Amino acid sequence: MTERAALGVAVIGTGKMGADHVRRIHEVVSGARVSAVVDVDAERAKKIAARIDGCTAYTDPASAMAAADVDAALIASPGPAHEAALLQAFEHDLPVLCEKPLTPDAASALRVVEAEQRLGRRRAQVGFMRRWDSEYMKLKSLLETGQLGRPLMLHNRHRNAASPPFFTSSMLISDSVAHETDVTRWLLGHEITAVTVLRPTPSANAPDDLQDPQFVVFETDGGALADVEIFVNCGFGYQVQAEAVCERGTARIGDGHAMVTNMAGRWGGTIAQDFVERFADAYDREVQAWVDATRRGEVTGPSVWDGYAAAAVCEAGVRSLTEGGRMTVELVERPALYG
Ligand SMILES: NC(=O)c1ccc[n+]([C@@H]2O[C@H](COP(=O)([O-])OP(=O)(O)OC[C@H]3O[C@@H](n4cnc5c(N)ncnc54)[C@H](O)[C@@H]3O)[C@@H](O)[C@H]2O)c1
Repeated sequence: MTERAALGVAVIGTGKMGADHVRRIHEVVSGARVSAVVDVDAERAKKIAARIDGCTAYTDPASAMAAADVDAALIASPGPAHEAALLQAFEHDLPVLCEKPLTPDAASALRVVEAEQRLGRRRAQVGFMRRWDSEYMKLKSLLETGQLGRPLMLHNRHRNAASPPFFTSSMLISDSVAHETDVTRWLLGHEITAVTVLRPTPSANAPDDLQDPQFVVFETDGGALADVEIFVNCGFGYQVQAEAVCERGTARIGDGHAMVTNMAGRWGGTIAQDFVERFADAYDREVQAWVDATRRGEVTGPSVWDGYAAAAVCEAGVRSLTEGGRMTVELVERPALYG
């Protein structure tokens, strides 16, 4: 690929997120084109490829990665398929943006960390897109100035209008709280050392057998506490909030006060209905940053180490949910590559 050529991207998995990333690369992002789409559902891949000139549909990630017009891979298949696709991308020496979770458990995430280490340089960015959300970026910058003093606590709320039919109680941790795992580590600059998941009486509006909501407490190696309310059938919309409580003040994001209306004796605003709407700008910035870095020959953003740490925290969280009690998080020593 020459310095100026558009980056040829293979999008692997063309479901809700993958199809949105295809649209984003085709219509929003500069410096890249969708040269391949891959889905085990051949019809879905063909339908999406047909909308884009020069885009080929595949059912197998390895064949797409071997194609001459593919320079990079964006993995948006379900979590259990990520490890195989990442290892294939490493074999083809392709830069990768991999949707969260890196993989569904710590052992498989560690195999990815080890495989990247064998390459001797970073190749993959993990799709923790909240790091590109304008409100989270402001909160991070403020904490970094030190004006508020040391962060003592971080309160997180993560609410979805309704969960999809396949959602299990463990997925509230491994799929949803995975995001708070990353923002807690990133905002505070700490590793999470222990997790406790508490179980209030489930909402009458949650599907049978779904433990919803859950209340999660993280302890960190910097002595901070973070809590996460995860409630995936709140009914009213998609809402993500965070409040940092520091020695000299607090800072809170996610109140969604972009526009306030006054009408008929009431004031108010609207609530986004899903993550694609709430984090649209963050996804755009995330993918643009990945494309720009890749064209410069660099890898930036959340690393596979971040993906591994999140997987280890979520695994401990699922153990706490199922067995009860506080679970410690055991991480291997952080390799120098992720210093
Ligand atoms: N960053 C975020 O905010 C965010 C939000 C939602 C989902 N996600 C992540 O995105 C990924 C995809 O989620 P989704 O909601 O789009 O799922 P989805 O079920 O809508 O789509 C998954 C697609 O992958 C295809 N697929 C399955 N196995 C495959 C394989 N081995 N190779 C190629 N394609 C395969 C399926 O046929 C389907 O079309 C997951 O990792 C999920 O956690 C991230």
